[in-house]
Amino acid sequence: ATTHVTLNTGHKMPVIGLGTWQAKPGVVGAAVEAAIKVGYRHIDCAYSYRNEKEIGDALQKLFKEGVLRREDLWITSKLGNDSHGAEEAPKCLQKTMSDLQLEYLDLYLMHWPVSLKKGYSWPPEPHMYNSSKPLEQDIKDTWQAMEKMVEEGKVRNIGVSNFSSKKLSGVLDYAKIVPAVNQVECQPMWRQDKLRTFMKTHNITVCAYSPLGTWGTAGITVNLLEQPVLKKISEKIGKTPAQVSLRWGIQIGNIVLPKSTRPERVKENFDVFNFALSKDDMAEIEKLAQKRFIRADFFCNESGSYYKKPEDIWDDDG
Ligand code: A2P
Repeated sequence: ATTHVTLNTGHKMPVIGLGTWQAKPGVVGAAVEAAIKVGYRHIDCAYSYRNEKEIGDALQKLFKEGVLRREDLWITSKLGNDSHGAEEAPKCLQKTMSDLQLEYLDLYLMHWPVSLKKGYSWPPEPHMYNSSKPLEQDIKDTWQAMEKMVEEGKVRNIGVSNFSSKKLSGVLDYAKIVPAVNQVECQPMWRQDKLRTFMKTHNITVCAYSPLGTWGTAGITVNLLEQPVLKKISEKIGKTPAQVSLRWGIQIGNIVLPKSTRPERVKENFDVFNFALSKDDMAEIEKLAQKRFIRADFFCNESGSYYKKPEDIWDDDG
């Protein structure tokens, strides 16, 4: 079974990573421990999730107990939206590395094509947007700061997140290091066909967030895991709808990042290497109606934001 995807840098990334968005301090440490004990070797973190210190403590504990070594793990983190540019980007990385208590990261991502003024995060209001320079310039300065992080050996791979084909193409115009990945929403009801085709041409790997449809998140009105086709296949093969969704993602070549803080689900979500979906099952799943779940309306505003509506963020990717 496929356990890793080889990135355009040659590094091998584990296909399942534990998602930590909306994993609250107080429970995220235990989730990380549970994950590693059932075989996860990849944790997906971010400065903005505000839980990296606790994840770092959990990792230190596991290292001390001799459960595994740093080099056995793949750790991703993401640059805060308020830390774009040559001056702030290295500081944000430093904060993440000190919270995670790590000497290097395997992957560092630009979290959003959004730049906020220092100290602002959530929810972004019009006056919080960094308007000191055009967004494209901001993204370029940040990308170049990230290239420097690779040169300095602090991070092994760099990439972006929430970039449309158009915005990613903009980065490719000047990138000395081609982004290794673009982390975006990708699940059976939002396949990202257009973006995935574009990324494949450039050998950029899709990392899929919300691979289970992130039911329970504000604004999500469709429960992916309740879709009849997923239930039907899951009953037929004796797996859960969550496992079918994750397997679908792996089989189309994605890295999948399921989030759970419940140990039994953490385990269930990793138990996807001992079966495969047939061509017919894959085709059945691909009949699901398509709808972007994470529209990012929170970054859209008629005044004072770069984006008036979600279409401005996602461009022509639908
Ligand atoms: P919880 O953390 O309480 O387990 P996504 O990874 O797409 O963002 O989805 C995360 C959501 O799905 C969370 O609400 C999580 O809840 C829930 N979830 C995670 N794993 C499973 C599973 N195996 N079956 C059902 N729901 C799950």
